Amino acid sequence: MTVITPSAKAVCATDGFDIDAIRADFPILAEKVHGKPLTYLDNGASAQKPRQVIEAVSNAYTHEYANVHRGLHHLSNVATANFEKARETVRAFLNAASDEEIIFTRNATEAINLVASSFGRPRIGEGDEILLTIMEHHSNIVPWHFIRERQGAVLKWAPVSDDGEFLLDEFEKLITPRTKMIAVTHMSNVLGTIVPVKEVVRIAHERGIPVLVDGAQGAVHLPVDVQDLDCDFYTFTGHKLYGPTGIGVLYGKKELLEAMPPYQGGGEMIGYVTTDEVTYGKPPHRFEAGTPAIVQAIGLGAAIDYVESIGREHIKDYEGRLLDYAMERLGSLDWLKIYGRAEGKGSIISFDVEGAHAHDVSTILDHHGVAVRAGTHCCEPLLARFGVSSTCRASMAMYNTPQEIDRLVEALHKTREMFA
Ligand SMILES: Cc1ncc(COP(=O)(O)O)c(C=O)c1O
Repeated sequence: MTVITPSAKAVCATDGFDIDAIRADFPILAEKVHGKPLTYLDNGASAQKPRQVIEAVSNAYTHEYANVHRGLHHLSNVATANFEKARETVRAFLNAASDEEIIFTRNATEAINLVASSFGRPRIGEGDEILLTIMEHHSNIVPWHFIRERQGAVLKWAPVSDDGEFLLDEFEKLITPRTKMIAVTHMSNVLGTIVPVKEVVRIAHERGIPVLVDGAQGAVHLPVDVQDLDCDFYTFTGHKLYGPTGIGVLYGKKELLEAMPPYQGGGEMIGYVTTDEVTYGKPPHRFEAGTPAIVQAIGLGAAIDYVESIGREHIKDYEGRLLDYAMERLGSLDWLKIYGRAEGKGSIISFDVEGAHAHDVSTILDHHGVAVRAGTHCCEPLLARFGVSSTCRASMAMYNTPQEIDRLVEALHKTREMFA
């Protein structure tokens, strides 16, 4: 197949996608680092925030703040309405059937722990199997290891090819009558590989196996429709989606959530409490013990409104062209090794510079104003699969530009000169 790589100019030329206006919405992008313009390519770890989110957070604290759900006064009612409006915004973003299917958590990690604990533990016993992919983030591994340790379950790992392609046939072969749970990433935070989750769910459901999708990266870069995917659980995290930290989302099918015991106990999640007994509220409140992250949820709502105002298809198209450009530029450096070349992958590039440790590379890049991540990316099993203990990772967002990729390449050349 011939890959037509767009020129730097062509990357930015899209109707309805005004990169300059988008960049102007993110105040931090105007910062300098070590006297150089900031080139922020660490979006896979956490994305920057547009002023629309910063203002929504500031406005909530300045004018509309009180605790939610339990007050009878004006500010509590306003805060409750704003908090619940954010839940509706998330529902629409995922196209969930009902608000009751949207649970606010601290982050994606907590959402996955909630499912492993409240859904997995009662259903998965000695010798039962949990099928993951080798690309999972530790957030979607360790909660299942808990079940392996505590219940005697067995973890199985769907492989990827040397190019980082998800191998659907190999995945299917790993399913057995003992498979009780499948948990897969939507998009790898190291390779950028996109897992065909709709197919995965179809195959799993033919055998009656529930599926959790970790959308910490996927929800940022791809349109998501949980009813179309038919997944049982979908999780994502606010701070990677241009929203605040401290807020994440668990989507779960209503009938499954209704059958699940609470994850934590405390205020707001009960039916009633006496000295002798307790009953529990309905989802989503059953799973939101204690004071929630009120303003963070409102900020997440603003972040989603922002993403929708740009358009998820526009973002996907733009990031796709930017990735093509970056892959061609980085791919032309014969002293740089790229991990992950899966067809249609998302805008993440992991790489190594020959003869240099990833930590040294990222430190030197930083001196040129270029922020990338180096290390295991919380994916140690995947790095072991590729026989490495760390890589550098450039992860792109909707506000990155081809000029920033050029700056990365220039800084990489300088890095290389120091190690050659
Ligand atoms: C694929 C994936 N899953 C889960 C997580 C965990 O996100 P959080 O730390 O916000 O819970 C990350 C974060 O890097 C991720 O990339």
